[in-house]
Amino acid sequence: MRTSRMVLSVAALSLQVLLTHAWGADPEVLRPRVPKDQIEAARAVVNPLPATPETIAQGKTLFEGKAFCRACHGPDGKGIFGKDIEPGSLKGPLPRNFTDKAWQARRTDGELFWILRNGSPGTAMGPFIPLVVTEEEAWQLILYVRSFGKAQ
Ligand code: HEC
Repeated sequence: MRTSRMVLSVAALSLQVLLTHAWGADPEVLRPRVPKDQIEAARAVVNPLPATPETIAQGKTLFEGKAFCRACHGPDGKGIFGKDIEPGSLKGPLPRNFTDKAWQARRTDGELFWILRNGSPGTAMGPFIPLVVTEEEAWQLILYVRSFGKAQ
């Protein structure tokens, strides 16, 4: 019973991964993560740092180093499609594909900053400011996350 349920959920997960990969972001991925009563304020927050080769490189160093984002989001920002992550090892929604332009367009920098401060409730994405990164480092990370959407 347990095993068959597990097999079923693994099958459902693989299907979800396949579909998401084939057709880009599903509506669940695009759904805002910031709670309704805070989203307007969160969206209005602007990244104080310019996107330069230097700030993006600082973000990359953090992403791959002390902030360990890479462990879940993959070296290529594709999350489960990256090489580092075991499918099924995370609870809740999977890390999204940062190269997905539809997802990139749907979020403001301020929303991503809110997520880095508060985490995405109910998922494996935890809060990183201020314990792991400073606010300035979070903005560098966001510039790097944005750079995945600009490739190709
Ligand atoms: C333990 C695994 C894990 C780690 C480590 C992690 N993330 Fe996440 N992240 C996730 C998951 C899972 C989601 C998807 C959450 C959801 O669907 O709401 C996510 C979502 C996000 C989102 C998108 C939220 C949205 O609005 O759609 C951003 C941006 C993000 N992570 C950035 C980072 C950065 C930057 C780091 C490093 C400081 C990091 N993550 C570290 C698992 C992780």
